[in-house]
Amino acid sequence: MLSEKMKTELNEQVNREMYSAYLYMAMSVNSETLGLKGFANWFMAQYHEEMFHAMKIYEYILRQGGEVHLKAIEEPPRDFASPLDMFEKTLKHEQFVTRSINNLMDTAISEKDHATQIFLQWFVTEQVEEEENDNEIIAQLKRIEGHPHGLMMIDRDLAQRAVTVPLDFSRGVAAQAKAASGN
Ligand code: FEO
Repeated sequence: MLSEKMKTELNEQVNREMYSAYLYMAMSVNSETLGLKGFANWFMAQYHEEMFHAMKIYEYILRQGGEVHLKAIEEPPRDFASPLDMFEKTLKHEQFVTRSINNLMDTAISEKDHATQIFLQWFVTEQVEEEENDNEIIAQLKRIEGHPHGLMMIDRDLAQRAVTVPLDFSRGVAAQAKAASGN
């Protein structure tokens, strides 16, 4: 059972994750217009990750007998100065998401909601990985600044990223995640 406060905050997080998906979709479109197919692939994979995050929380609220309230999703920015600008904005956004996950965990602790604390642990770990990935790519982009050949090499690397999360949530997130991981 979720408290009203916990339910409200989890619903707000569904919206933040949906916005994250929308933001990375905007960056994928921007990469396409720059002819950077690898960057476009990386950001579209990130879009799928964020939809998975949103659906994980959506399903958790429902499993706990709560109501999901879908709210309007804010329009993402359209223009980015450079690939480095996109990744710096990605990192900044992920740091914001990390703070919001930490706030959710603080609420779960203060509400003595042990199930939600365990549920949120996955997101705490995920945020460490997301910030780490962004920092690595930012460092690479800074190293090759002003060298178009370097940018092409990073684009080739980012083209390798595969989507590892489930894409079809019609039969539930947990079941699909299990099927996707082969366990
Ligand atoms: Fe769902 Fe990128 O945090």
